[in-house]
Amino acid sequence: MIRIIMHGCNGRMGQVISRLVEEDTEATIVAGVDPFDNGKNNYPVFSDIAKCDIEGDVVIDFSNAKAVDGLLAYCVKKQLPVVLCTTGLSKEQLEKVEEASREVAVLRSANMSLGINLLMDLVKKAAKVLADEGFDIEVVEKHHRHKLDAPSGTAIALADSINEEFDGAYHYEFDRTGKRQERDDKEIGFSAVRGGSIVGEHDVLFAGMDEVITLSHTAYSRDIFGKGALAAAKFLYDKKAGRYTMTEVIAQKG
Ligand SMILES: NC(=O)c1ccc[n+]([C@@H]2O[C@H](COP(=O)([O-])OP(=O)(O)OC[C@H]3O[C@@H](n4cnc5c(N)ncnc54)[C@H](O)[C@@H]3O)[C@@H](O)[C@H]2O)c1
Repeated sequence: MIRIIMHGCNGRMGQVISRLVEEDTEATIVAGVDPFDNGKNNYPVFSDIAKCDIEGDVVIDFSNAKAVDGLLAYCVKKQLPVVLCTTGLSKEQLEKVEEASREVAVLRSANMSLGINLLMDLVKKAAKVLADEGFDIEVVEKHHRHKLDAPSGTAIALADSINEEFDGAYHYEFDRTGKRQERDDKEIGFSAVRGGSIVGEHDVLFAGMDEVITLSHTAYSRDIFGKGALAAAKFLYDKKAGRYTMTEVIAQKG
């Protein structure tokens, strides 16, 4: 049985994982961490990761960017692999993730779903053909009204996936207000919509002179992220230090 420590256990995603694990025969949650607790989980909950004294094999994290530094320090100290799903990490925090991965196994993905990971590959292929033909690239994303960061980590990851193909030649435009100038050729623009209960929608537009190609993904339920995170935890729990990706998890599942 793989012993999971669920960081952010009482949030929307923490509760999805808790439900999925209950039906799973290979994994169990041995402890949760969340400053908010209503005592309804069937595992002990600690208000802070530093207080967690229960042994686990792997941590799944869906919490808050502010909580990630403490989490990384704990995982390094306890030599615990970590599936890092929280988005909105700062540049300094991304460096800390890199540092931690020299000591323990780390899998960080802005989007744990199979569909989005496939979309990352598809937009890369489309950009290879279309960018040199003068198509402009824009990312439009929509999420529920409670989401804290904008644009979404997934929107940035989709752009990064394209940018990798062009050795980072593109720069990102997050806000055009107040700028009275034409868009640049080597620009990827982002638009973020926030409202209601939208689980997550991402469109990557390739806008040419007389045609537009749009590659889209729509999430209808948070379960897709939960299932991906659980698969990632099962993949990661016995791995040695290093950075791992969802692509590797998907490849292993065949
Ligand atoms: N990678 C993905 O596929 C994916 C998918 C969905 C959400 N997310 C990201 O995961 C994060 C959580 O999403 P959510 O919708 O569950 O949010 P949420 O606000 O519903 O839950 C976050 C939980 O973290 C808890 N928390 C706050 N501080 C903490 C701390 N110091 N230690 C432990 N827990 C703490 C909160 O009390 C809350 O219960 C967000 O950053 C979100 O963008 C990522």
